[in-house]
Amino acid sequence: MQVTLRIRRYNPEHDREPHWEEYRLQADPTDRVLDLLNRVKWEVDGTLAYRRSCAHGVCGSDAMIINGKARLACKTLVKELSQPITVEPMRGFRVKKDLIVDFTGFFAAYRSIKPYLINNDPEPERERLQSPHDRERFDDTTKCILCGCCTTSCPSFWANPDYVGPAAIVNAHRFIFDSRDQAADERLRILNSRDGVWRCRTIFNCTEACPRGIEVTRAIQEVKRAILLGQR
Ligand code: SF4
Ligand code: F3S
Ligand code: FES
Repeated sequence: MQVTLRIRRYNPEHDREPHWEEYRLQADPTDRVLDLLNRVKWEVDGTLAYRRSCAHGVCGSDAMIINGKARLACKTLVKELSQPITVEPMRGFRVKKDLIVDFTGFFAAYRSIKPYLINNDPEPERERLQSPHDRERFDDTTKCILCGCCTTSCPSFWANPDYVGPAAIVNAHRFIFDSRDQAADERLRILNSRDGVWRCRTIFNCTEACPRGIEVTRAIQEVKRAILLGQR
C-alpha cells in the first residue's frame, strides 16, 4: 500500500518556524511508524532527526505525537492509522530538532522524587524479602519506561511546565508503596509542594496515553491520598 507521511520538521540552524514536509512511501499494513521514519531517514533525507533505540517498546525513546496522540513510533502500526499519517514532536517540550525535544526538565523532575530504593538499615546478608501482597502494591508502576507519553498529554503540564508531571509521580509511587523503602515521607513532602501532585486535575489523558497500560491517574490519586490521609 502507499502511505502519505507528514512530518513536522524544524532545524534551528536554518528554520525560523517549524513546517510540514510530506513523503509518499510504499509500506505494509504491519509496518510501524518507526519503519516509515527509518525509510525516510535512510532512503530520502538523512537529516531527519528522531530518537529511537530498542524498536520494541522497551526503551521509551521514540515517543511522539502520531495522528494527534502521544504514542511510541515502534508500537504503532500503519494499519491502525488514518491517512495522511502525521508525526509531530511531543507537546509541552522545547523542540531541539525535528522530532527531538529537550527532556532536561523531564528528567530533572524524575530525579527530584528520588527514584531509587532508600533503606538505611544495615546491609542484609541476603536480599530484602517482600511478600507477594506487598510486591503487588506497586506492580503497575514498575512498568514505566519513562517515555513521557503521559506528561506530554497532560493539559496541566502544558499550562505549567514546572508541574512535576505524571511520569515523575508514577515513579515516586513505585517507591512510596514499596515496603522495603524508608523514604516515602520525604517523597510525599516533595510531591506536596506547589508544583507537585496538586497540579493534577484528574484529567486522565495520561492514563489513556500510557503505552504500558499503567493506571497513571489511579497512581496519582493514591499518592494524593497518602499525603492527605497517610494511607499506604
Ligand atoms: Fe510512559 Fe506510561 Fe511511564 Fe508515563 S507512566 S512515562 S506514559 S510508561
Ligand atoms: Fe494530567 Fe493525568 Fe492529572 S492528564 S491532570 S496528570 S490525571
Ligand atoms: Fe524503544 Fe520505541 S524505540 S520504545
